[in-house]
Amino acid sequence: MSWYDEVEYIRKQARENNKFFAESLPMIASENVLSPLCKEMLITDFHGRYAEGTPGHRYYEGCKFFDRVEEKAIELGKKLFNCNYVDVRPTAGTTANMAVLKALIKPGETATVLDLANGAHISFGKWGAAAVRGINLVSYPFNDEEMNIDIDGAVKLIREAKPKLALNGRSVFLFPSPIKELAEAAHEVGAYLVYDAAHVLGLIAGKQFQDPLREGADVMTGSTHKTLPGPQGGVVLSDHKGDTEEDKSFLMRLNFGVFPGVTSSYHLHHVAAKAIAFAEHLEFGEAYAKQTIKNAKKLAESLYDRGFKVFGEKLGFTESHQVLLEIGPGKGKEASKKLEEAGIITNMNTIPGDTDPLNPSGIRIGTPELTRIGMKESEMEEIAIFYERVLLKNEDPKKVRKDIKEFRKNYQEIHYCFKEGFRGYDYYEIVP
Ligand SMILES: Cc1ncc(COP(=O)(O)O)c(C=O)c1O
Repeated sequence: MSWYDEVEYIRKQARENNKFFAESLPMIASENVLSPLCKEMLITDFHGRYAEGTPGHRYYEGCKFFDRVEEKAIELGKKLFNCNYVDVRPTAGTTANMAVLKALIKPGETATVLDLANGAHISFGKWGAAAVRGINLVSYPFNDEEMNIDIDGAVKLIREAKPKLALNGRSVFLFPSPIKELAEAAHEVGAYLVYDAAHVLGLIAGKQFQDPLREGADVMTGSTHKTLPGPQGGVVLSDHKGDTEEDKSFLMRLNFGVFPGVTSSYHLHHVAAKAIAFAEHLEFGEAYAKQTIKNAKKLAESLYDRGFKVFGEKLGFTESHQVLLEIGPGKGKEASKKLEEAGIITNMNTIPGDTDPLNPSGIRIGTPELTRIGMKESEMEEIAIFYERVLLKNEDPKKVRKDIKEFRKNYQEIHYCFKEGFRGYDYYEIVP
């Protein structure tokens, strides 16, 4: 292959990928699509520039305009999350978690966590960021029926283990966590409560989920590209005010955790897009979060009615953007592959009781992206029928794919974002 062909090959994959997703039903719970104005920021000159430090306190020159952008992102973030401390520099949710671990716990110290099989994320697990920091992890008991941390057991565990951090990180997040109780127990033993809102950040900001910073969480981390539909990235948030020497030092540790802790330059174009995503979420977030949850509930009910085993049955299946299906022992991968062939994109997922994360027994489904492209409850009912055809009636996925392509044609526009009244892309005006 010539270099020309190599490059064309790569460009072709990107084009095909765009087409594939535009003709499919993207239902991975952690994914979303960017608004046009956020996208615009990703191709500006902010990309690749360096800005170590904080606005006004930089190691590098050339940050005059970026400083204004980061200050605006922080200001909008404070409004959106109703809190005193916002750090928009983490380049991912995982980086935000690493920064907090760097800041608030030392190697060998103990943190209480959820188990992977019960929906935890690897960044707080023994193979992820927590392992990099060399932390001793102790797991909360879990109530499978309620799909939640067992409150009494977890409180007891925190009192006994006396951790430095009580962590709440959940990739399967159907119902709000008992933060008030966990935070009380954590504070009793001198620990901080860290709430990883990677998945539910946009639902929290849209005021449709629990409000961890009001319920006692000392720190909240999150991804800015899931239910909060911004650019790929992370945030660290806190409502601590820094009004005592101890509290000042707490916030300073958080700040140092991000830089120099786990970042150098931190993707300035993404920070600019985060600022726009925050503004869009302040305007549209409440309606978007409401519809996302309504869609998840309707989808769960419809799947259940068609014969699927859906977790959380006794509590109405879900209070978030997610639905968790039990497929059968070790059968999650096979099911998600079949769905992909039909044009439904999901992921295999562990369910309570699973011991092998590579051969899990469930699939996790999310509604954030379908909601962004304008789908509502009636569309969820139609989608449940596609699942039934592929997984329960064993129809040829290729046949279902044809119908899904047709169905998807009517949903090609991104909703819940600014569209009108803005000039064309400035980038093209500056760089011919
Ligand atoms: C609970 C939780 N924390 C952290 C992350 C990592 O986020 P990111 O992909 O932004 O690094 C995830 C990813 O899905 C998650 O589910």
